[in-house]
Amino acid sequence: MMNFIYLHCFILFVLLHGVISDHRNVLDSRVCFDDKFSFGVATASYQIEGAWNVSGKGESIWDRYTHAHPDMVVDRSNADVADGSYYKVKEDVALMVKLGIGFYRFSIAWSRILPIGLSNYVNEDGIRYYKELLAELRRNHITPVATMYHFDLPQNLQELGGWTNPIMADYFVDYARVLLDTFGDEIKIWLTFNEPYTFCEDGYGGIEAPGANSSGFEDYLCGHNVLRAHGMVYRMFDKEYRKKIGGHMGITLDFSWLEPATTSVEDQQAAETARQFYFGWFAHPIFSKYGDYPPVMRSMIDANSKRQGFYHSRLPYFTSKEVEMIRGAYDFLGLNHYTTYLVKHGSRRISLQPSFIDDMNVIKFQRDEWPKTNSSWLKVVPWGFRKALNWVRVNYRNPKTLITENGVAFERGLHDTKRVNYIDSYLRSLHAAIHQDGCYVIGYAYWSLLDNFEWTRGFSERFGLHEVDYQSPNLTRTPRLSAKYFTSVAKTGCLPNSYADYTYDI
Ligand SMILES: *[C@@H]1O[C@H](CO)[C@@H](O)[C@H](O)[C@H]1NC(C)=O
Ligand SMILES: *[C@@H]1O[C@H](CO)[C@@H](O)[C@H](O)[C@H]1NC(C)=O
Ligand SMILES: *[C@@H]1O[C@H](CO)[C@@H](O)[C@H](O)[C@H]1NC(C)=O
Ligand SMILES: *[C@@H]1O[C@H](CO)[C@@H](O)[C@H](O)[C@H]1NC(C)=O
Repeated sequence: MMNFIYLHCFILFVLLHGVISDHRNVLDSRVCFDDKFSFGVATASYQIEGAWNVSGKGESIWDRYTHAHPDMVVDRSNADVADGSYYKVKEDVALMVKLGIGFYRFSIAWSRILPIGLSNYVNEDGIRYYKELLAELRRNHITPVATMYHFDLPQNLQELGGWTNPIMADYFVDYARVLLDTFGDEIKIWLTFNEPYTFCEDGYGGIEAPGANSSGFEDYLCGHNVLRAHGMVYRMFDKEYRKKIGGHMGITLDFSWLEPATTSVEDQQAAETARQFYFGWFAHPIFSKYGDYPPVMRSMIDANSKRQGFYHSRLPYFTSKEVEMIRGAYDFLGLNHYTTYLVKHGSRRISLQPSFIDDMNVIKFQRDEWPKTNSSWLKVVPWGFRKALNWVRVNYRNPKTLITENGVAFERGLHDTKRVNYIDSYLRSLHAAIHQDGCYVIGYAYWSLLDNFEWTRGFSERFGLHEVDYQSPNLTRTPRLSAKYFTSVAKTGCLPNSYADYTYDI
C-alpha cells in the first residue's frame, strides 16, 4: 500500500512536473531581446520637416529637383510642407514617448545649418531648431542618433558638381566640425552618411536628385568622394573630439540580401559579386580587414573600362594613405535592411555605354510568390535579414551593428496587420541572428515614426507607425495598430504572442 501510494505520488509528480515545465517552455519560447538591446524609430530631415524656405534655410538638391521636375515624382508632390515636423517638435517627441522607445534616429539638414553649404555663414535658426529637438528628447530620456547627411545636399554645392567634385569631402568636414562643435555635448551617436549606394547610384547614376543619369561614371566618382569624406570626418572625430566630448561614429549602409537563384557555381558567384557591388562598394573599404574597393569590383570595372577605350579606370583609385584612412573608420555599422533579391549570372554583354549594371553583370529579380507590399521593390522576405546579418558577421569580423532602418509601406489605414506581421517576422529573424548565430546587433529602428515624403514615390507609399492626414491643416498624426504593437515590443523587449497582448490604448 505504501509503495502504491508512493508510486502514485511519483506519477502525479512526474505528470505535474511535465505540465509545469511545458508551461515554462511556453514562456521561454517568447522571443525576447536582452535588456541592453534598444528599440527606436527613424526619420530624415527632407522627408518630414517641411519649412523648406523658412528662417534662413538654404535650398537643397531635393528642393530644387522637386520644384524643377514635378513630373519625376509619381504624385507630383514635394516636401515643402511634408509632415511639418519643423513646427511639431513637442508633438512628435510625445509620439515617441508613447511608443516607449529608447532612441530616435533623425537627420540634420545641411542647408538649414549652413544655407549655402559653406561654414562661413551659420544659420542660427537651424541651430535653434535642432537644439529644441535635442532638449525635448533629453527631457524624455530618448537618446538622439544623428545622421549628418541623408540625401539633401545644399544646392549651392551641387553647382560645383556635388559629390563628383573631390572638394566636397573638405566641405563635408567643415560641416561636420560645425555639428560636432554645436551639438557634440548632446549627440553621442553619429552617422556620417545614410545609404551612399542609394544616393550615388540613384542620384548620379540615375535620375533621382540631382539627376545626373551617368551610371558607371559619376556614381563611382560620388562613391569615391563620399568614402573619402567619411574617412576624413571619422579621423577628425577620433583625433579632435573623442577625448573631449566622447561618443561613437559610424555610417549607415543599405544591404538588401542577395541570394543565388540556383545552386549552380555561376549563380553562387554572381550573388557574391552582387553583394560586393551593392554593399561591398562602401562596406569593404571601411569594414574589411584589407580596406579599399572589393577586388571583384576593381577587376571588373578596370577590365570593362579598358575595353571601352578609357585610359583610366572609371572606378577611381585611392592613394595608399586614403586606403588606410578609410579602413577601420568606424565605431559601429548602421545597417538598413528591407528586402531580398535572387541573383543569376549575367550574359557578359559589354556595351560601349558605361553602366553599373553592365559592370556587375548579374540578373537580379524577386519571386512573384513572395508577399507584395506597396513598394514595387519591397517583397516580404524575413529570412533574408538573418542571412544579410550573418554575411556581415563573417566578412567583416562581426562589427557592432545598429539596425538604423527596417520597415514597409502598405495601403493607407489604421488597422495595418500586414505591417505588424512584417515587423514581427523581421524581428524574429533578427533575434535568431543575434541569439542563435552570434551577430553583434545592439538595437533596431523602425522606418518610420510617421508617414512621410518617400522621394520620387511622393506620399503614395506610407511607411509610418503613425498615419499622417495630409488633407488636414494640422497634419494630424494617428497611431496605427503597428504603433501599439511596437509600443509593446519597445516596452517589454519581447515580441507579443498574440494581438491580445497589445490591443490596449496608447
Ligand atoms: C516659401 O515657399 C512657399 C511654397 O512652398 C511659397 O508659397 C512662399 O512664398 C515661400 N516663402 C518665401 C519667403 O520665399
Ligand atoms: C538617362 O540616360 C539614358 C541613357 O543615356 C537615356 O536613355 C535616358 O533618356 C536618360 N533619362 C533622362 C530622364 O534624362
Ligand atoms: C501603392 O498604393 C497606392 C495608393 O493606394 C497605389 O496607387 C499604388 O498603385 C500602390 N503601389 C503598389 C506597387 O502596390
Ligand atoms: C487642429 O489643432 C488645433 C490645436 O491643437 C485644434 O484646436 C483643432 O481642432 C485641430 N483641427 C483639426 C481639423 O484637427
